Amino acid sequence: MKLSDASALVEGALKEVKLPGGDLAGLYEPVTYGLSSGGKRLRPGLLLMTAEAFGAESAVEKAMPAALGLEMFHNFTLLHDDVMDNSAMRRNRPSVQAKWDVNTAILSGDTMLTLATHNMMQVPDALLRPVLDVFNDMAIKVYEGQRLDMDFETRQDVTTDKYIEMIGAKTGALLGAASKIGAMLGGASEKDAAQMEKFGYLLGLAFQIQDDWLDVYGDSNTFGKPIGGDINNGKKSFLLLTALESGTPEASALKVAMEMPAGDTKVKTVTRIYEKLNLSETVRKQVNHYSSEALSALKKTSLSDAAKEPFKALIDKLTGRKK
Ligand code: IPE
Ligand code: IPE
Ligand code: MG
Ligand code: MG
Ligand code: MG
Repeated sequence: MKLSDASALVEGALKEVKLPGGDLAGLYEPVTYGLSSGGKRLRPGLLLMTAEAFGAESAVEKAMPAALGLEMFHNFTLLHDDVMDNSAMRRNRPSVQAKWDVNTAILSGDTMLTLATHNMMQVPDALLRPVLDVFNDMAIKVYEGQRLDMDFETRQDVTTDKYIEMIGAKTGALLGAASKIGAMLGGASEKDAAQMEKFGYLLGLAFQIQDDWLDVYGDSNTFGKPIGGDINNGKKSFLLLTALESGTPEASALKVAMEMPAGDTKVKTVTRIYEKLNLSETVRKQVNHYSSEALSALKKTSLSDAAKEPFKALIDKLTGRKK
């Protein structure tokens, strides 16, 4: 199954989700708003694709609640992430914290997290404990990654190695869990499930480096988020760290530029330095590097060549993504 087919299934199932509802619009409206369409549905899509690859078509329906659970978890992280990153736009619309307020984003995010767990618990009894173990370990990783991401804003000792550790936690862990849980639900062997987790994790590294690049070079309408947010927040993005580690005069100029007050001038100045260093090329190489590592992980599974095809197509699609 292609990602676009898998995401369409997820989109349809999300529309059927019944929220506890009641009169508490202040709690549930932002949940519905956050979950409504606009997202790529990558994580649940990947989960369904993996379930199908190992368990054939009948595994897809069985895997849907877990897929929805992961999408809800992802959207919970986005509500809180937009508070932490002070982001006013998400998927081309005001973020929950901008449309409502911070307290709403916190509490409706909490609600999404519990709805996520509720959905994860719908997996077949025999897999409940192992799947929840993967889910909970992943969640803690994501929080660790988000904490590191914030700590790094003010730290001067961050290396690209530490950066990879941080994005592996905040982004790689969830993509890894998506393909691992899909594999488990499809009846894959432990070896294959572990291999698929590696695949998802490595894909996640490539995905986050591309996200960092799009934050500077994307088209805000297509990307759905304003350009320059990472620069203005002092994020130790892949671009910033690569530039700082370049040992060029541009590295010193960048240190000065990063001290500028947030705003368009700062974004322009920093982007100009990135251009002098031809960072788009470096990003391209790094995205390709992790994409090919993901491919190697995929190749080590027992999947047939035909079953590997949709995952290869997914790698290619994400490598060149603009949104
Ligand atoms: C955004 O994820 C958060 C990151 C890990 C960069 P996506 O880019 O998958 O967001 P949506 O769900 O498609 O909006
Ligand atoms: C997102 O990192 C990671 C999580 C949401 C866990 P970013 O902060 O780069 O994501 P965007 O760019 O806001 O989507
Ligand atoms: Mg963030
Ligand atoms: Mg953010
Ligand atoms: Mg980002």
